[in-house]
Amino acid sequence: MSVYLNRLLIENFRCLPLVDWQPIAGVNILTGPNGIGKTSFLESVHFLSSGKSFRAGGIHSLIRHGQSMVSVYGEILKNGNAHCLGLSKDKTGQMKARLQGHPLAGVSPLSLLLPVVSIHSDSYYLIDLGPEFKRRFLDWLTFHVKPSHLLTWKKYRKILLQANALLKQKEVKREQRHFWYEQLAEVGEALSENRATVFSSLKTAFQTRLETMQLEALQVDIEYRRGWRQGEPLFDAFCESDSRNIRYGVVSIGPHRMDMLIRSHCEEAKKILSRGQKKIVAMALYLSQLEVIHSLTSQWPVICLDDVDSELDKQRLEFVIEAFSEIKTQVFVSSLHPETLKNLFCRNNETSVFHVEQDMGVSF
Ligand SMILES: Nc1ncnc2c1ncn2[C@@H]1O[C@H](COP(=O)(O)OP(=O)(O)O)[C@@H](O)[C@H]1O
Ligand SMILES: [Mg+2]
Repeated sequence: MSVYLNRLLIENFRCLPLVDWQPIAGVNILTGPNGIGKTSFLESVHFLSSGKSFRAGGIHSLIRHGQSMVSVYGEILKNGNAHCLGLSKDKTGQMKARLQGHPLAGVSPLSLLLPVVSIHSDSYYLIDLGPEFKRRFLDWLTFHVKPSHLLTWKKYRKILLQANALLKQKEVKREQRHFWYEQLAEVGEALSENRATVFSSLKTAFQTRLETMQLEALQVDIEYRRGWRQGEPLFDAFCESDSRNIRYGVVSIGPHRMDMLIRSHCEEAKKILSRGQKKIVAMALYLSQLEVIHSLTSQWPVICLDDVDSELDKQRLEFVIEAFSEIKTQVFVSSLHPETLKNLFCRNNETSVFHVEQDMGVSF
């Protein structure tokens, strides 16, 4: 099964005023000078799929200066069927998602129709920053192989907020707290089970990927930490942590504290890997994520690669592009050196180079 964008209409997205672009189903290489809008193109594809940016700065920075709204419209072909997706956000953060012209309550149907994996200059955050990035990474993957995970996660978060509110109140009876722990434990066990199943596929794919990318020498390993002690029912763990929960006014353990440890030579990878090594390990993780989605759903997501060739030596870049070349899906890649990438990709893929130009969008 395949999905690809055959038209992208971008309006007031960062420096892009109005662009009507017809990308190819293969590898779309975007090139042009610094600051012309290459990353913004990739970001608009990511936005259409998720309602989010992959850069820091929040939604306001996406809206073109002086404008009140950003919108992206895409036509996709999925397994031979055409779908029209639309997404806009205004300055207040209000979002409007549309599918075939009909309004949607949220973005998740767009995300399922057009899954996008974006790899960019901040992807090494996965190695460097706190557990929330890893939770987001694993939850995104879990949602794409089991869409009901999103509902389970939303339900858990709602109960968690209620339990936290209760823990901040004075003179609450133990039975009341236990009532909320029970509700939270039931959903939390399901949430954690979903993640654990997907994590085990991810770990297998990751180990194979490290070998094919000849990264064994880094001795990288990933471990799933579910957020409370192994082998203990979640309800018991909540009850055990009760006095600490009261002290801090929040539920202190549980699936919302999940982490994915990334180690190299048995130490935290963030402490010992170089920036280039972090980038390549993060890429191996994203490639594993893609493989898991494909093996469990028979579908490849669309891939956005921003400045893929920065910080990688020639051999590493070849390994990375080789890996992406084997994936038969639509790729958007930005680069200052399009010829190098074109040569690396073109052996197996249909490739087109697009020049991003000032106020004009793209041209061949
Ligand atoms: N909200 C915005 N409105 C207008 N221009 C913006 C906005 N956000 C960023 N920019 C400008 O857009 C350009 C960013 O382009 P970018 O996609 O990062 O370029 P490239 O990847 O080609 O280097 C920069 O010149 C930046 O100043
Ligand atoms: Mg850029």
